Amino acid sequence: MDIMAAIRIVQTTPIPGMKAGTSGLRKKVVEASQANYVENFTQCVFSVYSEKENIEGCTMVVGGDGRFYNKQAIQKIFKVAAANKIGRIWVGENGILSTPSVSIIIREREDGISKGGLILTASHNPGGPNGDFGIKFNGENGSSAVEEITNKIYEESLKIETYKIADLPEIDISTIGSQTFDVEGHPFVVEVISSTEDYIRKMRSIFDFNKIKILLDRPDFSMVYDCMHGVAGPYVRAIFGDILGVPSGNLMNSTPLEDFGGGHPDPNLIYAHDLVKVMGVGKDHGIFPSFGAANDGDADRNMVLGKQFFVVPSDSVAVIAANYSCIPSFPQGCIGAARSMATSLALNAVAEKLGFPLFETPTGWKFFGNLMDAGKINLCGEESFGTSSDHCREKDGIWAVLCWLSILAHKNEGRAELLSVKDVLSEHWRTYGRNYYIRHDYERCDSDQAKAFMKSLEEKFPIFEGKADNFSYHDPVDNSTSSNQGLRFIKGNWRVVFRLSGTDSVGSTVRIYFEKHETENLEMETEAALQDVSLLMYINYLEEKNLMSLLRIKLIRN
Ligand code: G6P
Ligand code: ZN
Repeated sequence: MDIMAAIRIVQTTPIPGMKAGTSGLRKKVVEASQANYVENFTQCVFSVYSEKENIEGCTMVVGGDGRFYNKQAIQKIFKVAAANKIGRIWVGENGILSTPSVSIIIREREDGISKGGLILTASHNPGGPNGDFGIKFNGENGSSAVEEITNKIYEESLKIETYKIADLPEIDISTIGSQTFDVEGHPFVVEVISSTEDYIRKMRSIFDFNKIKILLDRPDFSMVYDCMHGVAGPYVRAIFGDILGVPSGNLMNSTPLEDFGGGHPDPNLIYAHDLVKVMGVGKDHGIFPSFGAANDGDADRNMVLGKQFFVVPSDSVAVIAANYSCIPSFPQGCIGAARSMATSLALNAVAEKLGFPLFETPTGWKFFGNLMDAGKINLCGEESFGTSSDHCREKDGIWAVLCWLSILAHKNEGRAELLSVKDVLSEHWRTYGRNYYIRHDYERCDSDQAKAFMKSLEEKFPIFEGKADNFSYHDPVDNSTSSNQGLRFIKGNWRVVFRLSGTDSVGSTVRIYFEKHETENLEMETEAALQDVSLLMYINYLEEKNLMSLLRIKLIRN
């Protein structure tokens, strides 16, 4: 006999701030765990979605990066979903599903029957009781909801008065299997599914694991993977450990932890310090592995390292584009690619030479979805350590690492001496030129001051001796326009971009991206190569007006 549950209407009041940033809601746990927070948001999602189509009896996916408060939030989502007559929830074992795997499950499990999903992640932001919590909605195509939907959800959140909830018991999500409830005559099924099965099946269909294994088995090749205690752990252990035979000791931090072991699960040179050290980046000599990789909390970001060498993410997508046809599921190579505006122009150089169309979008993965759905692109990437293809509608950290291994496996076929990651880059720069690139981040600025800073920069456009504009994107598929997406200063072979981050949970972050294209002098240190550009900008546009006072904490990332 199914457990019976009654539906209750609960009075609530709007909770401010439910406006999606670059990628869903990101809030401190203390804020997100206040009464009604998750229920209000979930109700708004279902109310808005049900205006568009009938969701009664439909299947939705729920899962996340395993961070603190996810388990409690999942139980709340079950209750609101059941009361809103959702028929079935697929939830990852223990609530664990990486962001790209949710996208794949929505698109492919049971022939893509699911209407969407809720992903519980604050991505690369720290977790734990004092850390961040996040929630976002992905639609039927497996992509983060577009702005039109997130804006409606936000509007709804400002006027919500009640939500519906089913009086379900605490549901066990630790064991694979189905549980059915009778919610006032409607069946509601919670099906606990394997966290990794759908994802692994997909990766097997894209890559040639046997060929990668030949590379991994070479005596002169070794690799290390840092899962940063995020959700990547179970996927990486299954793919790299069980299937490809990488020793378990080389799969670092592969147990997902609610607080990511106290770390900041962001795969960059600063936060992935364990891996950076193992790989000898910045060291002159020593014995180091040939290949290193890391993912963020929800496994959609990636960082790729060679022995004593860091691959700049903007270069990474360009290298993948240039060598795409060596990945079995892309025999035709790149049919079109896209990058966010702030990402370096390295990808443009490949597009020009190989003759495929290139799209420049605002920051945020959601902008790539329409281009993929319309068949215009099959590769995209961002400077913020995101790369993916049309195999799903999210960025995919493990996929990017497998691309790199496929490229290395292909290039090393039959070679006596190993062609390294660094060699691949040097060869790439010789063919396409090099885009030296660095990003400066000023975190926790006062939001009003940061806005005023951007405005004052815009006022300087007329006196800039090159070309300057405020980037605006016209989506060629749905004809929508997104304006105010970052300030560009372009002159000769260099470009500087300013924008405000859309992923802060406290204050505002000003990001400055410096870039210079070189066809000679290909092996310089990045900072040295960009020194004249950054000095010029700082002197002429920042310090002059004493704007530096607002920029408190400076971080150099890539
Ligand atoms: C998230 C999004 C990315 C975006 C990144 C940086 O990871 O999924 O698409 O590039 O945030 O965003 P920000 O607005 O902080 O620069
Ligand atoms: Zn992420």
